[in-house]
Amino acid sequence: MSTPVIAIDGPAASGKSTAARNLAARLGIPYINTGSLYRAIAWKAARLGISTRDEAAVRAMLADTAIRYAAPAPGENPDIEIDGAFPGQELRAPEIAQGASNVATMPFVRSFTLQIQRDAAKTSLVVMEGRDIGTAVFPDAKYKFFLTASPRVRALRRLAQGGETPDNATVDSVAAEIAERDRQDMNRATAPLRQAEDAVVIDSSGMTAEDVLEAMIYCINEGKQA
Ligand code: CDP
Repeated sequence: MSTPVIAIDGPAASGKSTAARNLAARLGIPYINTGSLYRAIAWKAARLGISTRDEAAVRAMLADTAIRYAAPAPGENPDIEIDGAFPGQELRAPEIAQGASNVATMPFVRSFTLQIQRDAAKTSLVVMEGRDIGTAVFPDAKYKFFLTASPRVRALRRLAQGGETPDNATVDSVAAEIAERDRQDMNRATAPLRQAEDAVVIDSSGMTAEDVLEAMIYCINEGKQA
């Protein structure tokens, strides 16, 4: 039996979060952003002055860290709670993204996050977005999508997001940052970013958010199950 998860994987700034949020709202089900887990670890490391490339220090920090998904207020979508706090938008700060990608290469970090992600999808159908949901976290997810877009489109979208790029960012600098993170995400040994063989691929370069939503709804209604 497949797991009741709609997995949306893809590279940085490919529109996964928007697609996942819209799909969850349309279906009236929770949305789980798994990038926030790695961002929360990088966020705590930054606050403690720990380098996200120092495996021993990150390991020691994680031994004393509690992370789970919880609703910040009754009825709200589940968000990351770390050591009893909800960092929310602070996780989207530009300097956190590369740190998240750094800790995400560490196998012990991935085993730590695996259980949290599986716990978050225990009860009912959820939309879960990340890099390895359809391949490593839920290889038997009921529906799998792989969302992508051209590097330039992704850079333009990230720039338009506001607050997630440095003040002096340009299309080229953002494209370079995204390319570096994708390189690291695709080449790590544990649970690298890759398309599941049974995922439906959506290249959203020329599509609006509404187009992407309708394409996903169409696949789900047609029963295009993984
Ligand atoms: O929003 P954006 O695509 O920029 O990044 P994100 O989804 O918040 O993910 C931040 C980083 O976390 C990624 O660059 C990956 O290194 C890592 N990540 C991962 O390894 N596995 C996931 N399931 C989700 C994110």
